[in-house]
Amino acid sequence: MIDLKPLHSFGLSAMADSISEIRDESLLSRLPVFDTPFIILGEGTNMVFVEDFSGSILNILTKGVEIKEQENQFLISVKAGENWHCLVESLLDKGIYGLENMALIPGSVGAAPVQNIGAYGIEFKDMCHSVTTFDIKRKTWQTYTREECCFGYRDSIFKSHEKQFEVITEVALLLPKTWNPNLNYRGLDTLPLGCAAKDVFNRVVEIRQQKLPDPKKIGNAGSFFKNPIISFEKFKSLQEIFPDMPFFNAENEDGKIQNAIKIKVPAAWLIEQCGFKGKHFDGIGCHQNQPLVLVNKGSGSGVSLLTFAREIRSAVLQRFGIQLENEVRLIGRNGVISL
Ligand code: EPU
Repeated sequence: MIDLKPLHSFGLSAMADSISEIRDESLLSRLPVFDTPFIILGEGTNMVFVEDFSGSILNILTKGVEIKEQENQFLISVKAGENWHCLVESLLDKGIYGLENMALIPGSVGAAPVQNIGAYGIEFKDMCHSVTTFDIKRKTWQTYTREECCFGYRDSIFKSHEKQFEVITEVALLLPKTWNPNLNYRGLDTLPLGCAAKDVFNRVVEIRQQKLPDPKKIGNAGSFFKNPIISFEKFKSLQEIFPDMPFFNAENEDGKIQNAIKIKVPAAWLIEQCGFKGKHFDGIGCHQNQPLVLVNKGSGSGVSLLTFAREIRSAVLQRFGIQLENEVRLIGRNGVISL
């Protein structure tokens, strides 16, 4: 039996049957065909094991970064087990810019495309060139272009059931040599237009450290819920009742032009309005600086987390008529479960 507590940043107590550590891609083709459930795990910063898992863990630990200089851009191929933040920082040190808005996002490079990580105005998909996978059932390699990845807001093809046997082994990023800072997001807009990439990096690190709890110090998996996207009509009717409700054009962040204008409402605000900010229940807390983040005070259990999260979701539904969806992946006895 394997203790999963140190393998996921939320740090709940849970066990799994076995673990295979993949430090070399060639091992993937020699894996047995799993007849019990299995989970592909990077650094476990977006997965929460809420029960003992009756299956195997495939922990991807491959390393390597290859940089190809082209005429106007750099093509960077990165093995899935590299740490995302270390990649951002090491490219910056080499004078390769473009990822600085996504500094300090916890987790591995291989996990980045799965939920199309994003922060401070940019998303993984903006720099993605391609994603390579190995299907451990069919024993086949496949490379997906950016379009084939079907990226959306915290979503991609790799979350779908059909891709459950595909292990992301490598991602390729395209970073142009001509760099312009992306300072549109609140908090970055006070930086001067002529600032350096390192200034953006430092500001993002500063904001994140102020708002978001360090998973090394207190168990958490970043935003627990997604920011809900609602129709313009729904937004207008809510605005009459809640004139202070903050809102954003959903097209800005996920880039999709939808049929009608869609509005993104900060889940943090909805949760705060329902009185959960800074509150805790049975070892699980709603963070005092960013209520979208649930934390494990150390004594939390899967049951108490699910109870608290459902209570938040139903309070928001009752008050605003908006159904929150979990952003983290919840793992139960047999695999991914819904809230
Ligand atoms: N807000 C409140 N109360 C608070 C905090 C925030 O009402 O205590 C409201 C404010 O209106 C604020 C708005 O929420 O303007 C947005 O807050 P913030 O800029 O902190 O971002 P977010 O929408 O809550 C998203 C991502 C984060 C990412 C930040 C910055 C999701 C689910 N979360 O949070 O990503 O770091 O934007 O880009 O999209 C993650 O995915 O794990 C994550 C941390």
